[in-house]
Amino acid sequence: MSIIVAASKNQHKIKEIEAITSQFGMEIIPRDKAGVPDVEIEEDGTTFEENSYKKALGIMKLCGKITIADDSGLEVDCLDGAPGVYSARFAGEDGNDQANNDKLKALLKEVPYEQRTGRFVSVITMVWPDGKRLVARGEVEGHILLEEKGPNGFGYDPLFVPLGYDITFGQFEPEEKNKISHRANALKELKRQLEEQQPDA
Ligand code: IMP
Repeated sequence: MSIIVAASKNQHKIKEIEAITSQFGMEIIPRDKAGVPDVEIEEDGTTFEENSYKKALGIMKLCGKITIADDSGLEVDCLDGAPGVYSARFAGEDGNDQANNDKLKALLKEVPYEQRTGRFVSVITMVWPDGKRLVARGEVEGHILLEEKGPNGFGYDPLFVPLGYDITFGQFEPEEKNKISHRANALKELKRQLEEQQPDA
């Protein structure tokens, strides 16, 4: 399997992607190691699919190598799917996890637990220099808490209890989260598509 460039600069995401893809023989390298300059690809799409493709294509054009991108976020049902594609900048500043969690807790504080349902979504896109692309979506359903629990993970992890469990992703061991997360589900689907294309790979 060839070397694949990670479009993301988010170290948490890269670690999770590497942990999962290494199990099926892909080698992921960070974009700076592939000679990609420190530029931002604007995430102005309205869907995870659009943003994921835009990131993968933008970085692939800068390095000329197979590139993988993840666009992900949290959809909360009683907030009509927000924060959704705006998950990273829900409270304004890009990537301020504490501010994002505070805003989410404030919006949900009157909502009973049973109605605080939602899901993490990850859309992984892989693009090749010849224009080929694969797109894989993964989701994990759960409930949102009103107080953070657990030191692990990142983003909304300390507020998210996956369905069938009574602890948050913030309380999961990383390798346990990586078995059931939205990102794991998207990567499993990507693997399935890759195998379908190259049955002997
Ligand atoms: P992106 O970099 O635009 O895809 O933004 C992803 C954002 O969604 C992150 O900044 C987090 O706020 C949230 N997010 C995505 N995946 C996860 C996860 O696995 N755990 C917690 N938060 C996540």
